Amino acid sequence: MTKKIEAIIRTEKLNDVKEALHAIGIIGMNVIEIRGHGRQGGIKLNGRNGNYKVDLLPRIQMNIVLSDHNVEKTVETIRRSAATGKIGDGLIFIYPVDNVIRIRTGERNCEALHYPDDIDEKRDVQGESIGVKMAAEPLMNDILAFTE
Ligand SMILES: Nc1ncnc2c1ncn2[C@@H]1O[C@H](COP(=O)(O)OP(=O)(O)OP(=O)(O)O)[C@@H](O)[C@H]1O
Ligand SMILES: [Mg+2]
Repeated sequence: MTKKIEAIIRTEKLNDVKEALHAIGIIGMNVIEIRGHGRQGGIKLNGRNGNYKVDLLPRIQMNIVLSDHNVEKTVETIRRSAATGKIGDGLIFIYPVDNVIRIRTGERNCEALHYPDDIDEKRDVQGESIGVKMAAEPLMNDILAFTE
């Protein structure tokens, strides 16, 4: 089964989070620039012409759809790489996903969420299926050559 992780993170943390996710083999993702506030309701700024409140602060929403068994590791990786320890570090929401369909191949669910050198392949390499990975590598390289 599959889940969607929706992580609201600081804009300046996007690169750190992307790199940390890449290192554990999270490949497919999308990001949106959003504005919002949490429980403090925004921030008060002291300007030259007096104080004013900015109630919708810019953040990045990162969306990742992935297999159930990869959720915890991914959430922990996002949390560690996105944290500064100050208020406003963000939130992570997790939703169930009914189905995933890769348009090109018609693959569904977990099958549609396989990527060359992804989190599952990395786990296999650390485990017993090194031979399978190496056999698959030329094919993966071909696929990579045709992907964006
Ligand atoms: N309940 C919510 N639903 C949807 N988006 C939210 C919600 N709460 C916060 N956000 C989004 O997350 C961003 C960061 O929230 P923030 O980290 O300030 O949460 P918080 O609950 O106030 O925690 P903290 O006390 O650490 O600041 C907000 O700018 C907003 O975009
Ligand atoms: Mg807050």
